[in-house]
Amino acid sequence: MIIQSKVRGFICITAHPDGCAAQVRKQIDYVRARGELKNAPKRILIFGASTGYGLASRIVSVVGAKAATFGVFYERPSADGKPASAGWYNTAALEAVALKEDIPFYSMNGDAFSSEFKKKAVEGLRKTLGTVDCVIYSLAAPRRTDKDGITYKSVLKPIGQSFTGKTVNTDKGEVFETAIEPATDDEIFQTVKVMGGEDWEEWIRLLVSEKLLAPSATTMAYSYIGPEVTWPIYKSGTIGRAKAHLAETADRLNDFLSEHIQGKALISVNKAVVTQASSAIPVVPLYNSILFKVMKDAGLHEDCIQQMYRLFAGLFDGGALKRDGATCVHLDDLELKPEVQTEVQRIWERINTSNLRTLSDFDGYKKNFLQLFGFECEGVNYNADVDPERPIRNLIV
Ligand code: NAI
Repeated sequence: MIIQSKVRGFICITAHPDGCAAQVRKQIDYVRARGELKNAPKRILIFGASTGYGLASRIVSVVGAKAATFGVFYERPSADGKPASAGWYNTAALEAVALKEDIPFYSMNGDAFSSEFKKKAVEGLRKTLGTVDCVIYSLAAPRRTDKDGITYKSVLKPIGQSFTGKTVNTDKGEVFETAIEPATDDEIFQTVKVMGGEDWEEWIRLLVSEKLLAPSATTMAYSYIGPEVTWPIYKSGTIGRAKAHLAETADRLNDFLSEHIQGKALISVNKAVVTQASSAIPVVPLYNSILFKVMKDAGLHEDCIQQMYRLFAGLFDGGALKRDGATCVHLDDLELKPEVQTEVQRIWERINTSNLRTLSDFDGYKKNFLQLFGFECEGVNYNADVDPERPIRNLIV
């Protein structure tokens, strides 16, 4: 079939298998060029392993450390002649490379929040990798159905007061003022339920009780702080409240792991990048378009793979890494450089629809967005007939 992009708001409902494979290959090439990470963990469990930061973490593990990985994600396989989701294709492409090199690679597709999935994953993990020495929690989800059967939904809203500020309509390329009403207490509670640390903590306690964490194992989750211009909607908003809960969870898990297995828990505060999750946050696409121009011009731009390589090298292989207390490391140091943020702020004040493409990297942003779904990738013939079926061979069901 011929697969074309079909963008609906901040999501593309189709994905191209060859384009996704090309994007994965680019990340693999980056890691190969940077070299082996000899001391990185060798058996890793990754939640959210199919796209964004979780996928980059898996690529660094597989390619940089030749690590055995068990990846968890929630993706759509191809069915009824429709293409699969991008994360499915990404995983199929990475798996092919891993298996060719005899690197153990297992995956599980489903709702990681559910008790049934947890039970199956524990069995699957025991039969495949056995104990793991690192657990990465990189889920980004819009909702979570908890053990009690209640479904909680996350919202992206300010807290305490309404927010009025610039944003961009990514379809039309129009900058406009948006107004977002503050979240209710219940919306804050629900967002923390979905994107806070509760589920991470449940997983880690479960893995310890099932003796699936090796002595001295590390677990990490990813967070974002960003600059003041995004704070009303991010750090000081509902998602920021969830991230604060994630940070408190890291402290608690660090105590728990150090007591039980001499292990540790960490939060890595990452840079803003274009992912399926971040595209849905108001203000962020405009901020990213400006940030990318400034960082590219200054030769400082990084995507997921550069940061995840830096994280693994810094944590496990003697590389430099900015630390903040016992449970936090920062990869947002380049984004938050004063000279970068001064320039972002200067552009932010002047940006409008007519200068969007000159003052920001809006075209780069849009290309980056489409590439998440395997479109606009170099070397891919989008007029060619492609088979939408791509098997993930070691899928635990
Ligand atoms: P993403 O949207 O690219 O990836 C989300 C992953 O979660 C996918 O693998 C998806 O299949 C999986 N997933 C979603 N719901 C699931 C469920 N119920 N069960 C199992 N798997 C599920 O997201 P992204 O942006 O890579 O986010 C990962 C983490 O990084 C999040 O905690 C996010 O807040 C954080 N982060 C993101 C930044 C950004 O700019 N994108 C910046 C800093 C931190």
